[in-house]
Amino acid sequence: MLVALAVSAALPLPARAAAGAAPATPGSLQVLHWWTSAGERRALNVVVNQLARQNIQWRDVPIPGGAGMGAGKVLKSMVLAGRAPEVTQLNGVIFGEWADLGLLLELDNVAVQGNWEKQMFPTVWALLNNRGHVVAAPLGIHRINTLFYNTAIFNRLGLTPPRTWDDFDRVAQALRRAGITPLAQSAEAWQVATLFENLALAESGPAYYRRLFVEMDPAAYADARMISILKRLRRLGQATEQPLRERSWTETARSMADGEAAMFIMGDWAKGEFTAWGLAVDQQFGCAPVPGTGDYHLYSIDTLAMFADDYSHQAAQETLAQIVTSPAVQSDYNKFKGAIPVWRTADPHMDRCARDSWRAFGKGQSYQAPSLVHRMATDETTKDVIIAEVQRFFLDRQMGEEQAQRRLVSIARALSRGRGQ
Ligand code: BGC
Repeated sequence: MLVALAVSAALPLPARAAAGAAPATPGSLQVLHWWTSAGERRALNVVVNQLARQNIQWRDVPIPGGAGMGAGKVLKSMVLAGRAPEVTQLNGVIFGEWADLGLLLELDNVAVQGNWEKQMFPTVWALLNNRGHVVAAPLGIHRINTLFYNTAIFNRLGLTPPRTWDDFDRVAQALRRAGITPLAQSAEAWQVATLFENLALAESGPAYYRRLFVEMDPAAYADARMISILKRLRRLGQATEQPLRERSWTETARSMADGEAAMFIMGDWAKGEFTAWGLAVDQQFGCAPVPGTGDYHLYSIDTLAMFADDYSHQAAQETLAQIVTSPAVQSDYNKFKGAIPVWRTADPHMDRCARDSWRAFGKGQSYQAPSLVHRMATDETTKDVIIAEVQRFFLDRQMGEEQAQRRLVSIARALSRGRGQ
């Protein structure tokens, strides 16, 4: 360890120097992530400040792009070029791949000391483990089946948040009559696919959802339920602004906050964003489960993984893992982030939306659905292929539901052949 320290201090990695970054010291950690919005920054600062109190500097590598569409690719090229950051936001199934290559620091000691296995939600604990070792530290649990609404508009028109898709149609009609776009939406693939995964869950619950996105079962795609999901998606396309623009999720959120549109389906990081803008839950905006998904929790769990490299940063990396999982940081961070803590014990500071999310997640695995878009269900490539196809259907009004279904079935067949099923 001492030798490794001395070597790394004397010989900063050439590639790092080439990238223009200052040589890493054990008292600083380079962290790659995609938290670039106001709410995300506010949440991150909780961690950055705690880390600074331990004399560890957070060296920021922010890669813009909602849902980490850019960050995943940048990370891959950094690792392949031999200049992996010491820490990365690494969500979902993908960290198994890095861990299998022996690249990730095992955090078993921190996990034992913190009693993670007993205290965390079982789904979180399972996600952190790869072949018997803990390979990431969790930050919080996001709920993707969240419907935000502009309370001023809803109150003025005497509307209540829709619980079913028929309700949704009625609310959308009333909004249109009042000259308001019902649904804030972007044409970006991941934002369109956010609607799609929500509709899949609403259609037939978590078991069918898992057949679609975890098992990639071609028969599930060929099922009549898929036609119904695609029809509903087509209808949602009529509730959005025309023509639909590609914009970041923060811009889409802004259009709901400003009252151009009345509703917004997005992960609850949008709540963190609205509050960073000075808006408050149940005052300027409300939240409800997406219609038809009230019992369920469509989740994305944020985690930090640490690249082991020559182990010269191990102490600082372990400190970071301890900090992010401490109950006080979990509570503050998640309040700003819009998510809920990963601990099973209820955090008394949660607002109404967070309590609702916490209750739904606490019902256990048969009520939980891992987000496709946020890499909880399957690998990056599979996710990218599916969401591109869904976007194509959403934007091309000429494409029929049967045609889109056939294309999805072929993709699922090819992918399941690739997996040897
Ligand atoms: C992450 C969130 C992030 C969101 C928007 C999701 O994939 O889990 O932490 O706020 O993307 O970029």
